[in-house]
This record gives sequence, structure tokens and C-alpha cells, in this order.
Amino acid sequence: MNLFNLLQAPPVDLQDIPPGVRETSFSWLPPQMTTTAHIVDSPFWFVFWVCVFFFVLIVGLMMYFVIKYRRRDESEPPGEGATHNTPLEVAWTVIPLLLAVVMFYWGLDGYVALATPPSNCYEVNVTTQKWSWNFRYEGGAEHDELHTWVGQPVKLIMRSQDVLHCVDIPDFRVKMDIVPGRYTVAWFETTQDALGEHRLYCAEYCGQDHSSMKTKVVVHQTREEFEEWLVEATTYPGPADMPLHVWGKQLYLRKGCASCHNNETEDQDGKQGPSWVETAKLLTEGGMREFTDDTSAKVDENYINESIMLPKKRIAKGYEKGNMPGNTLNSIDRDAIIAYIKMLRP
Ligand code: CUA
Repeated sequence: MNLFNLLQAPPVDLQDIPPGVRETSFSWLPPQMTTTAHIVDSPFWFVFWVCVFFFVLIVGLMMYFVIKYRRRDESEPPGEGATHNTPLEVAWTVIPLLLAVVMFYWGLDGYVALATPPSNCYEVNVTTQKWSWNFRYEGGAEHDELHTWVGQPVKLIMRSQDVLHCVDIPDFRVKMDIVPGRYTVAWFETTQDALGEHRLYCAEYCGQDHSSMKTKVVVHQTREEFEEWLVEATTYPGPADMPLHVWGKQLYLRKGCASCHNNETEDQDGKQGPSWVETAKLLTEGGMREFTDDTSAKVDENYINESIMLPKKRIAKGYEKGNMPGNTLNSIDRDAIIAYIKMLRP
């Protein structure tokens, strides 16, 4: 049990843990669950202990000298002070230089390894937006959790719909910025110990709900188990199998609408976008919405359609941040969203 798990996990009955494990499992860092975790940890510990050593040495000597060479008497004239000491100056230049070279080389070596995914990777396309994760698996199925299986190298090909985000899986020592306008890549290969669930965070402050932009990583035992999960989790009835507004609600939950639009009360309720209940009221009553450029428009199907496709074209007053990324919903999905909004009329 390490500190990280202590902070996250429910209390564990120590009786359940075999004695050997109980004694050896303490670590300041999360468990190493990938073949590359040591690439991050080893230089980290090296830098850490070098810093500890020099901190103690320098602060210790400083305090010792302060006491030893203090002015003992008011009449004592100030000391001359040393001018220079060539051997000492060479020593404190060359030793840190060598240490810095070692740190640089070690870090670069690891960086290159982490930046070079092996060719047999399973590829997952990751799309981020405020404040949700979307993973698209080979074959096209999408889910908001990252699943894989033991021993498989996985390559994450990531992009952002809006601002900077950062994928962070502490157990895997995976951390990579996700930058709007370009792809970034991270990869990992899980070890046998990784079987089970791990946490995935956004590690780049990206606005109001940054702290809730997290999901889980699930490592299955075999590819077969993974494929089984994938089929089960991503096969669901489509718009043809249900009333349009029910499909609209599915989209609301799945496509990230729920993170910014309230669907319960007319009030914004702390969310970043207009409440859909308020929109529903305007829609059914033929109400107007005012925009930041002092124009206004009738809230109708055309307005909602435009707001989904080109959310930044006209920004509703009171929502100046204009956070919403342009969406790629097809026309049936947009119809379904409109149908769902109509159902929310108070
Ligand atoms: Cu996305 Cu923080």
C-alpha cells in the first residue's frame, strides 16, 4: 500500500494482505504497471537524491559557517572575506556539470524511448474537450473509458477540440500534453501486475471543471476479454430503434453535452452553457435569445441547429466565454437533440 493509494482507495483490511506483500509494498510513487515506468522513476530518484544530498551539504555548511565565523564582539572589525580559491571553484563547477550531463543523458535516453512507440501497437484515437474523454478503438467503436489488455503495447493518438489538456495515468507513468491543432502521441505496455483498474486524469488546468475531467483505465487479462467488453460496451441501439427524443438524451449523455448544459432546471446551475430547460421554454414559446453583439434571434430549430454546428457564430449573452467546440453530429443526431430539448419544457 503506497501513499497514492492511501489517498485514493477505500481502507483495506491489513489482514487481507499477505505478510510478505505488506512489508515490501511501501513506495512513495504509484506502483510501476508498465514496462517503461522505470524509465521515469530512475532518473527521478537520481535527481531527487542529488538534490537532497546538496541541500543538506550546502545548508549544513552554511549554518556551520554562520556560527563558526560570527562576529563575537562589537569592536571586532569586519573580516576581509575570501577573494578566490581556484581548486574550490573548479570543483564546484565541474562536479555539478558532470551531474547535469548525467541527468541530461539519462533523461534524453528515456525521452527517446517514451517518444518511440513500437510498431506492434494497438492504436487508440483520443479526443478531448472540456471536460470529457473520448477513446475511439480500432474498428471505430467509441467509449469514455480506456480499455486494453495485459502485455499489449498501446499507442494513444490524441487531439483536442478546444484547449490544452494533458493525459496523465500515474500507474503507467504516462503524461503527455494534448494540444489543439495537432496530434500528440503517448504509448505504454502494461505488465501482468496491471490487471484491473487505474486512474486517468487531465493534468493541465483547462477551466472550471478541469478537476472532474477524469476517467478510468481498465486492463483486461486477454485480448479476447477486451474484445468482448468492447462489443458489449459499444453496441447499443441506434436512432432507428427508439423515439427521437430518447436518442437525443443518449447523445446528451454520451457526447459531452451534459458537462456544460443543465437538463433539470431553467437555471444554469453552475454549468458553463445555457440550460436546455430554459432553451426548451424559449423554443416552445417562440422566445428570443440575445447575443453578445447586441443582436437577437428567435429560438427555433434553425437556431439550435446553428448553435450545435457553429457554436461560436453567435454567443448568447451571459455566456461570453463561448466554450463550446464545433460539433460533428450528423443531421439525425441534431434532430434528436432538438427533439430532446423540446421534451425538457417545464
Ligand atoms: Cu482538461 Cu484539465
